[in-house]
Amino acid sequence: MPALNEELLAFIGKSPTPFHAVANMSALLDENGFKQLDEGDYWSQTEPGRYYVIRNQSSIVAFVLGSADPIETGIRLVGAHTDSPCLRVKPNPVTHKHSYLQLGVEVYGGVLLNPWFDRDLSLAGRITYSDGSSIHNRLIDFTRAAGVIPSLAIHLDRNVNDSRSINPQKHIPPILLQTDETSSIDDLLQSQLEEEHNAKGKILGYELSFYDTNPPAFVGINNDFIASARLDNLLSCFVGLKALLSADGTATTMLVCNDHEEVGSASAAGAQGPFLKSVIERLFPDGESRHRITANSLLVSTDNAHGIHPNYADKHDANHGPVLNQGPVIKINANQRYATNSETEAYFAHLCEQTDVPYQKFTNRTDLACGSTIGPITATEIGVRTLDVGVPTFAMHSIRELAGSRDSDYLYRVLTAFLNVADSPGAK
Ligand code: CO
Repeated sequence: MPALNEELLAFIGKSPTPFHAVANMSALLDENGFKQLDEGDYWSQTEPGRYYVIRNQSSIVAFVLGSADPIETGIRLVGAHTDSPCLRVKPNPVTHKHSYLQLGVEVYGGVLLNPWFDRDLSLAGRITYSDGSSIHNRLIDFTRAAGVIPSLAIHLDRNVNDSRSINPQKHIPPILLQTDETSSIDDLLQSQLEEEHNAKGKILGYELSFYDTNPPAFVGINNDFIASARLDNLLSCFVGLKALLSADGTATTMLVCNDHEEVGSASAAGAQGPFLKSVIERLFPDGESRHRITANSLLVSTDNAHGIHPNYADKHDANHGPVLNQGPVIKINANQRYATNSETEAYFAHLCEQTDVPYQKFTNRTDLACGSTIGPITATEIGVRTLDVGVPTFAMHSIRELAGSRDSDYLYRVLTAFLNVADSPGAK
């Protein structure tokens, strides 16, 4: 069993929101000698070394400025996203009905709603409070099971197994407690702020999501699988980060993990925003050099792929059914929903062959709409050669997804090789 999985599951378990994921990545980078740069500071000519930048506490660019000339080697980029579909608490969420206090929620991204019922849910995210003179951001995580969305009994909906539809406004507000009193969300958050941060103040804003308290786990008689929330895409964030930590410091290497992928990437911190572009521009302020660097760079956009499901095998093209534990999947779409082209596809396949990592290729059924990733968006923004890969998974966007326990290590090995290749990536 790859030791990497133990760390991966611990990382996902303590990263219920993009804010927590970035805080945990930041801590790991600090431990490994990376220096944080502030976007608001003056960046003088940056010396070779290890750095990272955070935007909105939910997106991060970490990089090793190598000793080799980046015009010769290009930048080896690995991309992923920090967000996952979830239920987000509304600004005025509290309702009282039949003695129950519930919180109204928005659906963030393409949530598979059914699996959210009958889970022991907790609540986490960022709050911004005022201490009277200034405002402060703090991350909070209730950790304990604080709410639940009970199913309706089958006796009250006899057709549920044939046709169940979920109205997100009516059916999914989680129940937090039973009370006759009118309590406010602020009371709950203030006591959590005091408990976690020993701070007091007026809550002025928050981004809080529900999540499943069931911890990530190995599943299967032989532990063939890992089951967890947010495998899409914290698995890629963590594996990409571990690969970056292994970079030998010769070539310039970079990991970009953006928030807001699940809602289209159009935000200041999202892949369609200027975050990555501005970091690259500030590191390489000379335009001519930067264009040459970009031309020699390559981005491996990592995001999970759909494994062929034995009970629903006809949802895949018969010749393109990735199998769990058979290696990373190169994702291809003629309509550029994935950024892979024949050169970047071949480059990644070549890397896999050189590192003894199996790989698979995926394209959607021609009669099904294809998903997308940060790959095509980043390629469009930066102009860098890109490909889309990811480990095959089941139940994407469920509150409990499933991946193969060997694929994380396969992905780690090939990304590590990619970040440590001496010459410029791509065809000669
Ligand atoms: Co994803």
